[in-house]
Amino acid sequence: MAALRSLSDPARRRRAQAPVRSVTAADPDDRFFRHLVGSMRNGVIAIRRDGRLALMNDEAYRIFALTRGDADIGTPFTELFRRRPDLVRVLAGAFELSTLPNRAELRLKELDRVIGYTLSLVRDEGGQTIGAVLFFKDLTQVEQMEEQERLRDRLASLGEMAAGIAHELKNPLAGIEVMAGLLRRQVPDSPSAQSLIADILSEAKLANAIVVEMLEFVRPIRLQVERIDVAQVLHQSVVNAESKVPRRGITIVFEVAEGLPLIDADAGQLCQVFTNLLTNAFEAMNGDGAVRLRAALAEPEPDAVASDEEPPAPSVVVDVIDNGPGISPELTDRIFNPFFTTKTTGSGLGLPIVRKIVDAHDGRLDLSSEPGRGTRFRVTLPVTSKSCWFT
Ligand SMILES: Nc1ncnc2c1ncn2[C@@H]1O[C@H](COP(=O)(O)OP(=O)(O)O)[C@@H](O)[C@H]1O
Ligand SMILES: [Mg+2]
Repeated sequence: MAALRSLSDPARRRRAQAPVRSVTAADPDDRFFRHLVGSMRNGVIAIRRDGRLALMNDEAYRIFALTRGDADIGTPFTELFRRRPDLVRVLAGAFELSTLPNRAELRLKELDRVIGYTLSLVRDEGGQTIGAVLFFKDLTQVEQMEEQERLRDRLASLGEMAAGIAHELKNPLAGIEVMAGLLRRQVPDSPSAQSLIADILSEAKLANAIVVEMLEFVRPIRLQVERIDVAQVLHQSVVNAESKVPRRGITIVFEVAEGLPLIDADAGQLCQVFTNLLTNAFEAMNGDGAVRLRAALAEPEPDAVASDEEPPAPSVVVDVIDNGPGISPELTDRIFNPFFTTKTTGSGLGLPIVRKIVDAHDGRLDLSSEPGRGTRFRVTLPVTSKSCWFT
């Protein structure tokens, strides 16, 4: 707005444009300095002793989110930066303060930006102050990175704390289980006491399962890689999942391709992956329906084969497919977040653990789900692990 108003004032426009024209038209040295300031990655704003703008480069306009106007040069900075009162305050201090700010920070609340700046006086040959110049840099990104760093540190210590708490809880929980078991034997004839004790036991088991999952989630993974048979892992996972959630009427269909190669993986950890996926499927299906476990060698992408590059490393794709209620699109991103659960007694750690183990195997985890029709979790695992290529 300031630029528009000053444009409509011809006298001011002449005054404002005069110095610019004389600089661009003439001296190649002056042109060089103009380009130099224009190309700087710092923002530069210079004002004359009387408070008129002498120079402002593109970076300065960008940082303060202002648009360059033809008549900006020569306009009093108080008018030009009316919408940036913090900037006006800093520039106004140039001719008043005895010590000018050096590497100071300015927080622009309205733009949600942080600027690091230095203010200097401009003096002529005789030492007379003829203006002031503000050099500055947008520190917003630096600040964001520092904030992320701090967040990572906080999460790391939170993880350590969680591991510590989980570890401490294991012993008392085991104690509760043992003592409730002893108590059960002391009151064989009281059905009401028996039922209470059964409740105590099942609650303690649930708490213990959450503690164990929490430890699994926060513990760093160390893979014990061997050449393993995926089909065997899948069979074991079904047994493990059945011990966690009653399968009841759910049928399991194995579709393992003939001649599936052995893969380099940690059998125990992979078992955990498929146990968690199967447990979720059983829980979602509520005792009825079918779960398909499909394993096959991955078909290489057609264009990857056609290219001259090395053929893609073979991998095995394992699908866990259920015909349960499916997962609504709003939830598909959130279900991988630690502690996200839609179940009353869920830990919300099953899928984060799956992801962590699949990542450790340099594998991929994909989800496709149609609400009302079912869910497919796809785990793609390289046949040969990278660590083995170099040995
Ligand atoms: N096969 C599935 N069908 C429907 N919903 C699922 C399925 N697998 C996972 N989910 C959803 O993802 C959420 C997170 O799963 P998970 O991380 O294993 O934690 P939890 O099982 O403890 O809830 C579940 O609460 C559920 O809402
Ligand atoms: Mg789960």
